[in-house]
Amino acid sequence: KPDGLVDSFGRRITYVRLSVTDRCDLRCRYCMAERMQFLPKREILTLEEMVELSDILIARGIRKIRLTGGEPLVRKGVMEVVRGLGQRIGAGLDELVMTTNGTRLERFAGELHDAGVRRINISLDSRRPERFGHITRGGDLAQVLRGIDAALTSGLSVKINMVALAGINEDEIEGMLRWCAAMSIDLTLIETMPLGEVEEDRTAHYLPLDTVKRRLEERFTLVPSTMRTGGPSRYHDVLELRSRVGFITPLTNNFCDGCNRIRIAATGTVYGCLGHDQKVELRDALRSGRAGAVDELLDRLLAGKPRRHEFRIGGAPAVERHMSVTGG
Ligand code: GTP
Ligand code: 5AD
Ligand code: SF4
Repeated sequence: KPDGLVDSFGRRITYVRLSVTDRCDLRCRYCMAERMQFLPKREILTLEEMVELSDILIARGIRKIRLTGGEPLVRKGVMEVVRGLGQRIGAGLDELVMTTNGTRLERFAGELHDAGVRRINISLDSRRPERFGHITRGGDLAQVLRGIDAALTSGLSVKINMVALAGINEDEIEGMLRWCAAMSIDLTLIETMPLGEVEEDRTAHYLPLDTVKRRLEERFTLVPSTMRTGGPSRYHDVLELRSRVGFITPLTNNFCDGCNRIRIAATGTVYGCLGHDQKVELRDALRSGRAGAVDELLDRLLAGKPRRHEFRIGGAPAVERHMSVTGG
């Protein structure tokens, strides 16, 4: 039985974020540039290769796989990967989850649940149609809201992700929390991270979440919760609403000491950290069919996995690639 994945700081890696495509049907201003150079199609792993690679990872102790994008549900045939990995749940894999923008959930929610997915995270930065259209450069809010409904109806447990943006959606945070509470779903707020050049001035719209938390505490009683999902979010119970709010704070409160994850781009490039360029290329090793070739590269990645990201607000982005390449 091959060894588990442990980095040079003793952190055990049990969580993989697998980007099935870097393409997306939206173009969120903080995520993508107006004109994006997408990864060449011929360099993208096939659906079969993604399942094959996942099996190698599961053998190395990966217990949770999150499918991401771009937008995972725009990849043609993506359900083949979902169904394939769904069969590994209980046989090595504890959890198969997805992060999606929700635009195609109306069509896919039922199939996701049938395949064994139980939890999905849906990005929603605004509930005002015009503002949603602005942030996403043309997205249709109603379509996403129908997607959220479909997910809940299908029995999926939903978490809403909201990137907190000063001067853009900060006036909606309390309303979003109340709206989520009314549906008994969790809300996670995220600090904007400097990945890749975008037209938007991320510095101008950076909203530290300690400020947001203080504002919420003027209205509600927030009690730190022990609930953890294996991701970076730190949750608080909101007593008055009988609900929960999570904070992802790469800038105001670094969580890298507890890092348990790596991320794989659709080309088979694996990154040790969201905020670094440190990587290995798995595609050729996977295609070589040589037993152990992928494992050796994974060991090399783990040996060099950075201790923490170096995100700073202001100045050039920490890395050139956009969030959409690795889905976060
Ligand atoms: P749960 O399984 O529900 O905990 O999900 P998650 O928070 O791990 O995943 P999700 O895809 O919902 O990610 C939410 C935000 O957290 C996204 O903006 C990700 O980019 C960010 N995120 C996830 N992992 C890391 C990480 O290791 N470092 C940093 N800086 N951000 C991360
Ligand atoms: N900073 C913070 N969050 C981002 N996301 C995309 N780009 C960024 C960024 N630069 C969020 C999306 C989605 C999640 C996967 O990451 O809104 O919820
Ligand atoms: Fe697409 Fe998600 Fe990036 Fe928005 S944040 S453009 S939905 S990948």
